[in-house]
Amino acid sequence: MDNPFAEGENRVIRPPATALVIFGATGDLTHRKLMPALYNLLQDEYLPSNFAVFGAARSELTDEQFRASMYESVKKHSRRTIDEKIWERFSRNLFYQPVDATSDAGFRRLKERLDALSGEGKENYNYLYYLAVAPSVFGPTSARLKDVGLVEPPRGGVRNTRLIVEKPFGHDLPSAIELNNVLMGSFSEDQIFRIDHYLGKETVQNILVFRFANGIFENVWNRNYIDHIQLSWAEDIGVGSRAGYFDKSGLLRDIVQNHLLQVLALLCIEPPNSLSDANSIRNEKVKVLSSFRRFSPDDVARYTVRGQYSAGTIDGAAVKGYLEEKDILPSSKTETFTALKLEIDNWRWAGVPIYVRAGKRLPKRITEISIYFKKPPESMFRGRQVGELEQNVLAIQVQPNEGISLKISSKPPGPRMRVRPVVMDFTYGDSFGVASADAYERLLLDAMKGDATLFIRNDEIEQAWDLLDPVLNRWQEDASFPVETYEAGTWGPPAAAGLLRANGHRWRRL
Ligand code: NDP
Ligand code: BG6
Repeated sequence: MDNPFAEGENRVIRPPATALVIFGATGDLTHRKLMPALYNLLQDEYLPSNFAVFGAARSELTDEQFRASMYESVKKHSRRTIDEKIWERFSRNLFYQPVDATSDAGFRRLKERLDALSGEGKENYNYLYYLAVAPSVFGPTSARLKDVGLVEPPRGGVRNTRLIVEKPFGHDLPSAIELNNVLMGSFSEDQIFRIDHYLGKETVQNILVFRFANGIFENVWNRNYIDHIQLSWAEDIGVGSRAGYFDKSGLLRDIVQNHLLQVLALLCIEPPNSLSDANSIRNEKVKVLSSFRRFSPDDVARYTVRGQYSAGTIDGAAVKGYLEEKDILPSSKTETFTALKLEIDNWRWAGVPIYVRAGKRLPKRITEISIYFKKPPESMFRGRQVGELEQNVLAIQVQPNEGISLKISSKPPGPRMRVRPVVMDFTYGDSFGVASADAYERLLLDAMKGDATLFIRNDEIEQAWDLLDPVLNRWQEDASFPVETYEAGTWGPPAAAGLLRANGHRWRRL
């Protein structure tokens, strides 16, 4: 299909020569997300012509074995079918180096192989390191990279050396500060790219364009017009194979502390000076994160809900309860659902409730932001057959059916004065005619270019923990704090509805 909006897409500037080293290359993230993303970037001709990927992990694999295993993963998880000619080009530049983060030997050999790429009149490669390993391995890996001479100073070095760090970045504020100190022992803030893959999603990036490239919305984007905001995040899947990680983390840390607070920060920021300066946007995000009202212990009881799924049915299939899942302790109180009422104490947002709900094993996968506008006065409709007027709702569907809809009141045809809600819809699929790339594609590309706009700065992470630590602490320390159960396949425990009822609000039907 001809797509007028795609014009100019292939004028994307390619990054300079880059060697990407993925630590954790035999793990789930590399198989499911990173390698398919890299393959698709090559297929779109976005990668530099001088490009190499080194997989690194403890397993002893040859380059050939690694390539064969990555082929299977890309075949299974790529958004496009593999084109054998393109794969051949891709796999020629795919290597594997056994590395154990607890010993120097693998790092030294890695350095020899990396350095062999550059020099003798060839283009100098930048080195980009991706920490797709457990957080306990972040520190030793970054320290050894520095020890063996694989980290250059941020300015004036032989090449750019950068580090992408996966989540979770700490499990509370003190551990995040400690992790940051460890990483800063080897890399500077400018060189550290903390990933939150939600920032790579098209719909999340579109929040800024929607707000600031349209004359009509920004004027009503404040407490004078907005009644309240809802952010719903739902997944039908359970903990799957990541039970060991999830049971220690819980949904608040896994989803809210990073993905959802980042989405809210973009939704609520003041206009940044420029969209092409990473710090201009990040400065504004920090202001929002630091303006969220902090929870007192009483607020935690009043404004937060923690829930856990029991056995139920999703799409006609029976599913186990959380406590029956493999590798979950039968006494676990870990939340698979949470609902929160937040408020931003600043001039724009004071008094506007922001409700967040997030859960696993809900009826379907959906992430939606809905902005409820204040109702108009109803007096002029009195005496007519008009029921209560409904609120205008602007719904931004982040996934899976990416788009934006606006619910407005309208008069249905006919001789009587009536009012019915109708919906104006924009979907990415219909308007742009192209499928969105995976978030990791955009983020990997930006990191190669050194553009940190879609990565999280350390102070944002600290503010997010500062907001949620009191909730996590009360949940953990107060043995009587309820764990509300909800049947898998439902929209969470009744207490989540209670949170809104207090203000006369209701969760939107998704
Ligand atoms: P996995 O457990 O599947 O993989 C871990 C990887 O680390 C393996 O390649 C393992 O390989 C390697 N590894 C373990 N110990 C060492 C060591 N001492 N030295 C070198 N390599 C080591 O984890 P995931 O891929 O699921 O996750 C990786 C990171 O990404 C984690 O921080 C996770 O929180 C984050 N993440 C994952 C997501 C996902 O969907 N999987 C989503 C978002 C974030 P080997 O045993 O061969 O050494
Ligand atoms: C990850 C969480 O960060 O995001 C997972 O650790 C979750 O628990 C995943 O399933 C959801 O990502 P997406 O892009 O599918 O919404």
